[in-house]
Amino acid sequence: MKLLNSLTLSLLAVAVVLPAAAARKTVIPVETENTQLVLVAQENGVLQTVHFGAKVSDPSAFASFRTGRGTDNGEGPMSYPATGGRYLGEPALHVKYADGYHNTELVYADHQVVANGNVVTTKILLKDPVTFLEVTLIFDAYRKENVICAHTGIRNSGKKAVQLLNYASGVLNLDADKYYLTHFHGGWADEMQMEGELLTHDTKVIESRRGTQVTQCNNPSFLVSLDADRLQENVGEVVAGALAWSGNFRLSFEMDESNRLTVLAGINPFASTYELAPGKFFTTPEFIYTYSGRGAGQASRNLHAWARNYGVYGGGQINPTLLNSWEGAYFTFTTETLLRMIDDAAAMGLEMFVLDDGWFAKDYPRNGDDAGLGDWEVNTAKIPEGIDYVASYAHQKGLKFGIWIEPEMVNPRSNLAHAHPEWVVQSPGREIYQSRNQWVLDLSNPAVQDFVYGIFDRTMQLAPNIDYIKWDCNRTVADFGSKYLGSEQDRFFVEYAQGIYNVMRRLRAKYPDTIVQCCSSGGGRVDYGALKYFNEIWTSDNTDAYTRAYIQYATNLVYPACVMASHVSAVPNHQTGNVTPLKFRFDMACSGRLGMELQPRNLSEGERALADRCIRSYRQYRDLVFTGDVYRLASPYDGDYYALMYVSQDQRRAVVFAYCLKYQNRAVGAHSFRLDGLDPARKYRVTELNVNRSSWWGSGEAHAGDFLMNGGFNPVLLKTFDSAVFYLEAD
Ligand code: GLA
Repeated sequence: MKLLNSLTLSLLAVAVVLPAAAARKTVIPVETENTQLVLVAQENGVLQTVHFGAKVSDPSAFASFRTGRGTDNGEGPMSYPATGGRYLGEPALHVKYADGYHNTELVYADHQVVANGNVVTTKILLKDPVTFLEVTLIFDAYRKENVICAHTGIRNSGKKAVQLLNYASGVLNLDADKYYLTHFHGGWADEMQMEGELLTHDTKVIESRRGTQVTQCNNPSFLVSLDADRLQENVGEVVAGALAWSGNFRLSFEMDESNRLTVLAGINPFASTYELAPGKFFTTPEFIYTYSGRGAGQASRNLHAWARNYGVYGGGQINPTLLNSWEGAYFTFTTETLLRMIDDAAAMGLEMFVLDDGWFAKDYPRNGDDAGLGDWEVNTAKIPEGIDYVASYAHQKGLKFGIWIEPEMVNPRSNLAHAHPEWVVQSPGREIYQSRNQWVLDLSNPAVQDFVYGIFDRTMQLAPNIDYIKWDCNRTVADFGSKYLGSEQDRFFVEYAQGIYNVMRRLRAKYPDTIVQCCSSGGGRVDYGALKYFNEIWTSDNTDAYTRAYIQYATNLVYPACVMASHVSAVPNHQTGNVTPLKFRFDMACSGRLGMELQPRNLSEGERALADRCIRSYRQYRDLVFTGDVYRLASPYDGDYYALMYVSQDQRRAVVFAYCLKYQNRAVGAHSFRLDGLDPARKYRVTELNVNRSSWWGSGEAHAGDFLMNGGFNPVLLKTFDSAVFYLEAD
């Protein structure tokens, strides 16, 4: 009866509290339209997760489900395993109590289901009857998107403080014979390189301990293919997940002796023992995950749909094309330089001008990266007329205006460093190391949070209608320490990340409509925690279109194209030295949020005409990039081509991007791409954009969806860096 209540009421917009049954099993299904997570409180109160995958019509059948594994081999698969009891694996929760003991045994107390439109929230309360620790597992099921966001609340209901040594956000328990893990690794200007491996027994860990810029090396996201030797795009079971946290993170993948896989995701416990006073509560970040029975493609589409509807600030909104001053002017500019760039941006049909680094600081002018950070006043030696003048000029030309800040950082050569040395991250008696000639401000300190808030707020007052802020953060923290936290240094990493969120929450309350880019050196803060407040990411400082194929392909496995800022820059590329055709550069940038980052004056007339053409056509189809479903057609990691397409939700329109990354000998001929996501019965008019002569014989004509999806589409792209963009519209 109780089970029936739980199942029925989960569909209604009401809350129910279901009391614990003595020595009875309680089945708790967490469901989306096509997927299901099934948790069962066993007779002894242990909460196990017995299923995550395709939907089973009657999940109550799992009440009788047994793993067949004796408890002598350890308890499993526990929904939120804690150190102690019979658990032998890596714990989600590890608590040290005041008496020095480490044992926690959580038993099911009750649960609640609350439905609110598309989102159904299940809260399961677990208690330790000996230590009075209470843990609430919270699952938000996004039914339409087939995504679950899990997080955990930990309450100390005992009389003495406890220390949280591990406090994961959530756990995934998977059951297959083998697991292929895909994850993302890299470095500056080389972020999000896809890597994969078949997991073997024991534990694989993906983590960051960098404090800031935490995702420059590893990303807190993954895909696990079940019973497969590789990541497959359109077939097979894939579980994809991401942690919404902009601080140190840890993902662990433990395959035990029964071949089950336990995935833990959460804040990295490194140097972060969290003391919880009596009566206090700690809430973990969210662990977002999805299940696909149709390969990585569907897993990405689920995550992207969730991100556009819930996970990204302003998700689904179309953000403007832009010209950014950085690679075109670096630190060397005058008002005149900026005005001429604005003229050129307007003439090429771009929609915004972004003034990057170098506009501020007077006593220690920001003419290089070794001075000025912290002194956020306009450098009137460079821009005597002020920001208002430049912004107004842009607005008069019909452009929006954006500006760069890096508020978390300070150069030793600045007034701020002299006025507030105590705000700098440091530990007593030790050298404060520099990286990119800068120090980190201590965001765990509320006074610093106010200051950082004030930088953004004051920058917004420099001109009426500043439309866009590029928020940078150009170094990591290794030599951490906070004067403010005194003897409580263990709180530093967690409170630094929470400090950013505090600031962003306040800023969003005051500036709901400002577009804010999360830059962080490019690729340094790419996570769903930041994206709750930021509209987009600077995908990488690497603007080379060839390298971007790899970075963007991998980024887009987890994060939607609408957040992926991608700029056309000059050649030879300033990061890699590669020389690629302008068309290839545009075609790559147009598969994300298009921008340009070069001195337009250096373009030839022919190049300007091509730029103009590409920008104007982008504006016709970019709603597909921002809101369509992605279908990947060829992976740069697997072969010589990269190709993808975005399809409108109603399947009436689509845009296809195809890039040749390596010369093909003439015998190879045209490569067939199997388009995807179209209506097989509809006819689509296919038009190649931005060329006088199409690379495909069928351009300009209407073709059936099933023809395009079954090998009929074969543009001739043979030379290295040949590329093409096709627009499809149903007749
Ligand atoms: C970082 C950013 C760049 C640019 C520079 C300015 O590297 O990622 O886009 O803004 O800082 O110093």
